[in-house]
Amino acid sequence: MAAQKRIGVYPGSFDPVTRGHLDIIARGADLFDRLVVGVLANPEKAPSLSPEERVELIRGEVKDDPRVEVRPFEGLVARLCDEVGARWILRGVRSEADLTTELPMALSNRLLGKAETVFLPARAELAFISSRLVRDIARLGGDLSPFLTPRVAREYARSFRKA
Ligand code: PNS
Repeated sequence: MAAQKRIGVYPGSFDPVTRGHLDIIARGADLFDRLVVGVLANPEKAPSLSPEERVELIRGEVKDDPRVEVRPFEGLVARLCDEVGARWILRGVRSEADLTTELPMALSNRLLGKAETVFLPARAELAFISSRLVRDIARLGGDLSPFLTPRVAREYARSFRKA
């Protein structure tokens, strides 16, 4: 009998995708046969980019890795896991403060479905990065290169000017 594929889901708002997210995707892809990056289409706060724009920015960065699939989703992460057959949810953790919000989410997801959450510690040099910081800096016209890859920075700055 063929071994079951190990599928993980990495959910997030990715508004926009940062160097920190991309590092978690690269390291997460090594843990699973397939990693599905789930882009929450309707986060509680109005996103600065549409779901399609957020998906395309990530796709542009992972297009050479056949193990990674990027797709938008709505509603529960547990439901997305069922849909794609994932038994693991991947989340990056930058600090103790992150764990305070991540633990209840992980426990809730375990009750809502079957997927276990696995945490990857952010690389120390990227642990200060957040999409919220990036949005503020972009709004104020600052240099985005420490936070975003050159392509994402270019596209994101352009979409900001359009808005
Ligand atoms: O990138 P973010 O904003 O930290 O990601 C948060 C996200 C998308 C993981 C979280 O908001 C989420 O899981 N939303 C989907 C709704 C859900 O499944 N809720 C129940 C589990 S807490």
